[in-house]
Amino acid sequence: MITKKTINDIVETSRIEDVVGDFVNLKKRGANLLGLCPFHNEKTPSFTVSPSKNIYKCFGCGKGGDPVNFIMEHESVSYPESLKYLAEKYGIEIEETQTSQAHREEQQKLDSLYVLNQYARDYYHDQLLNTDIGKSVGLSYLKNRGFTKETIEKFGLGYAPKDKDAFTQAAKRKGYKGQQLKKLGLTSKYDSDFFRDRVMFTIHSVSGKVIGFGGRIMSKNVKAPKYVNTPETEVYNKSKVLYGAYFAKRAIRKADECILVEGYTDVVSLHQGGIENVVASSGTSLTVEQIRMVKRYTQNMKILYDGDSAGVKAALRGLDLVLEQDMNVKVVMLPEGEDPDSYLQNVGSEAFKEYIESQAKDFILFKSELLFEEATGDPVRQSAMIKDIVASIAKIPDPLKRSLYIKECGHLMKVEEEILMNEVNQIVTKSVHQAEDQRKKDQRQYARKKAAEQNKNTPPGNGNFPSDPGNFPEHAPFPEDAPPYFPEEEMYVGMAPPPQPVQRRPSAANNAEYQEKDIVRLLISYGGQPFDAEDKEVTVARFILSNIEDVLDDFDNDLYQRIARECLDMTIDGTPITPEYFIQHEDKDFRRLAIDVLQPEFEMSPNWLDKHDLPLRSQPMPDANFNNDSISAIYWFKLRKLDKLIERNKASMKKAIEEKSGEDEVMKAMKIHQKLMEIRKDIALKVNTVIVR
Ligand code: UTP
Ligand code: MN
Repeated sequence: MITKKTINDIVETSRIEDVVGDFVNLKKRGANLLGLCPFHNEKTPSFTVSPSKNIYKCFGCGKGGDPVNFIMEHESVSYPESLKYLAEKYGIEIEETQTSQAHREEQQKLDSLYVLNQYARDYYHDQLLNTDIGKSVGLSYLKNRGFTKETIEKFGLGYAPKDKDAFTQAAKRKGYKGQQLKKLGLTSKYDSDFFRDRVMFTIHSVSGKVIGFGGRIMSKNVKAPKYVNTPETEVYNKSKVLYGAYFAKRAIRKADECILVEGYTDVVSLHQGGIENVVASSGTSLTVEQIRMVKRYTQNMKILYDGDSAGVKAALRGLDLVLEQDMNVKVVMLPEGEDPDSYLQNVGSEAFKEYIESQAKDFILFKSELLFEEATGDPVRQSAMIKDIVASIAKIPDPLKRSLYIKECGHLMKVEEEILMNEVNQIVTKSVHQAEDQRKKDQRQYARKKAAEQNKNTPPGNGNFPSDPGNFPEHAPFPEDAPPYFPEEEMYVGMAPPPQPVQRRPSAANNAEYQEKDIVRLLISYGGQPFDAEDKEVTVARFILSNIEDVLDDFDNDLYQRIARECLDMTIDGTPITPEYFIQHEDKDFRRLAIDVLQPEFEMSPNWLDKHDLPLRSQPMPDANFNNDSISAIYWFKLRKLDKLIERNKASMKKAIEEKSGEDEVMKAMKIHQKLMEIRKDIALKVNTVIVR
């Protein structure tokens, strides 16, 4: 059984628009998203997704529910399977109860540690509020710093008494064992209290369990460290925790942004000021685990730096990690001498909010400016600066973003764009090669696994969609009448997150037409280019057309069909296919379409354009992914056409049954159905193989 905690985690993390978006093309319609219902046949979209309510609802067929329901319904899987699917999608570790005796014991041990930590929290909190010394020393200190009673309650702030072992003794009287106390870092190996004469900050896990503490000294004693923190324990792994995450997660999702500060007091203060989407790294640099946790809630991170922070540059270097995770990062420098806590208390929360809004700078641009100022007139530093910024840019998975940054940074640092571009491309190419090797390795592994499975027990043709190892839930049946699960990530197994092709979403609500348009887009934009760098003979157009020649008649859209046919003729004649050819085409419709597909609306965050005043000065860098795109476009197109045939055949099967046309007719239709389904499975398999390749 999956634990309650995991279920909560999954339910809270899953975003309906993401989950549905993997299967249905959704278009924004006011606060909601709209698309064609995957559960019934419809031509005008009535399938509605509400991100704020985190539900979907079809006004055509009445189906509706949350992300878990959607996966159950759409993938025809059980409740636990749906949970597993979502856990996989969001990288949530599944905790299961009753797996084994040993596991259960382990769990019980952990639980008892949490209970003890909770006791410690209550103890310190009680000391703060209900003892003379706690009130006169701890509480007055916190009040002095502007923390209200509610804040103190909410965050479980406390006071650890001065005495050598007051807490340890109290805990033992309650029946807790010394060994456990030491395990949690609450008691030293000499049996004295670890935290003494400090105000206490409770550290919670994302789900709200007490996992550790930070204690701040109140005197200005310069010798003792300002804070002491719980050491690494079985329940506290510093690199995985962000202080305040438990209180912030809802607000982070709502604001679609996470504010990162350094200190405990910063988090508490900002919360009190009504800014709740804030977490602290507790003075250390961010880890990948921490970033991934944030990423479950938002892609946007705003980092506040103390105005006097000498280590800003060192800190900036660590941020490349964040870029690698495809997060959008902005930084805010606070005025000299201020940290978030002090500044908010100085100016009030309205002015504070205004400041961080207006001062937020894109991380890479901020970094270029900073480096540029430093390197002026020093060629050695200048080349180091270029290397540094280039390394950051190369971490960005999205090629469009990369090229924009190259432009802007080149401009800012007065370096020729071309130089930056070359440097970046070198790094990117290298990492692509590495990813390629990894992918081949993955593929071999996958093939081996598949073969082993097949030898074992899988009956052929059971309709199971092939699964990528670790990327897709094992037992999700492949739904007969839905497009295959086709997460983009799978195209880049082992690589940084995929570069996002420009304009992925359909401009027409009609799915089938979107597939066709995508093919036409590839033909017009890249048709004349070699499909494979090794073999200049085979162009993209030739590759695509030779694959879909047999179904060219089945285009739904007349214009797209005419263009495809013309491309086919040109390929046969050897006439070069270029974008210009179509832009200057005698047919007005051709010209218009060419412009349309060559100049797609950029799907960029409006923030990007507005806030950073980053003009789109250039066309996107030609995306190196058109060959991948071509392969998937072909299979998608074929699947669509096949689905049409299947629908048609189903209808005639139904008709034959209803009209009692005789067993022969019915049998024939059923055989055709079987055959079609086999072909479909084949293609679906290919989509997967191509993707995993
Ligand atoms: P700060 O010195 O900025 O602390 O360190 P702060 O939170 O603003 O504290 P106040 O406002 O002076 O009370 C930032 C964070 O670095 C960690 C703590 O997590 C702190 O919140 N830190 C700092 C330590 O762990 N140990 C230290 O000795 C100092
Ligand atoms: Mn502070």
